[in-house]
Amino acid sequence: MDNQKATNITRHAGAVSRKDRSQLLGQKGCLVWLTGLSGSGKSTIAFELERLLIERGRAAYVLDGDNIRHGLNCNLGFSDEDRAENIRRITEVAALFVDAGLITITAFISPFRADRDQARSKLADGEFFEVWVNTSLEVCEQRDPKGLYKKARAGEIADFTGIDSPYEAPNNPELAIANEQGPPREAAQQILDLLDTRGFLAPGSA
Ligand code: ADX
Repeated sequence: MDNQKATNITRHAGAVSRKDRSQLLGQKGCLVWLTGLSGSGKSTIAFELERLLIERGRAAYVLDGDNIRHGLNCNLGFSDEDRAENIRRITEVAALFVDAGLITITAFISPFRADRDQARSKLADGEFFEVWVNTSLEVCEQRDPKGLYKKARAGEIADFTGIDSPYEAPNNPELAIANEQGPPREAAQQILDLLDTRGFLAPGSA
């Protein structure tokens, strides 16, 4: 880490392995990273996926942008730097959840490729699923569930993603969902099927 301030610290290994936790939970921890514009449907899909997983007896948990910004990240705004720090902290928390064996789902705009790539690099190969909720700006703005696009257009909110702050679309996501074309439940099911195919809904041997 660039801004490492803690010194004289030593890692301490536990006596329980990832395999032990995987056997206990009957699944493998992984990270489903939803990215897309505000109003694209990330949170709805994330919570739908969480529900589907719990219904199948799998342990899942959603880290959601608006929710996390009420607590852990309440001291961060929407400058490029603050967004990067938002994603860095979430990545660290999500990586811990994955280590604990949870199927972890994040719903953050996460507009910058470099930040998402950094998140990917913290996970083992194949454990990170970048899911692009590809809903057009026009549709998000039309939905405007929180009235924020209207405020951004009126100049009442600065640095709003898609208006006066960029969104860098994923180049090579594990999954792209054209959310405007189908109900969130179908999108969630699509992600669940992908996790199932990749073996994350069964205990791991490593
Ligand atoms: S991120 O860019 O840092 O990943 P995050 O997902 O945590 O963003 O938070 C986005 C949510 O904050 C939006 O869905 C919206 O409700 C709210 N928000 C408030 N101000 C802004 C802004 N300037 N740009 C985007 N979203 C904003």
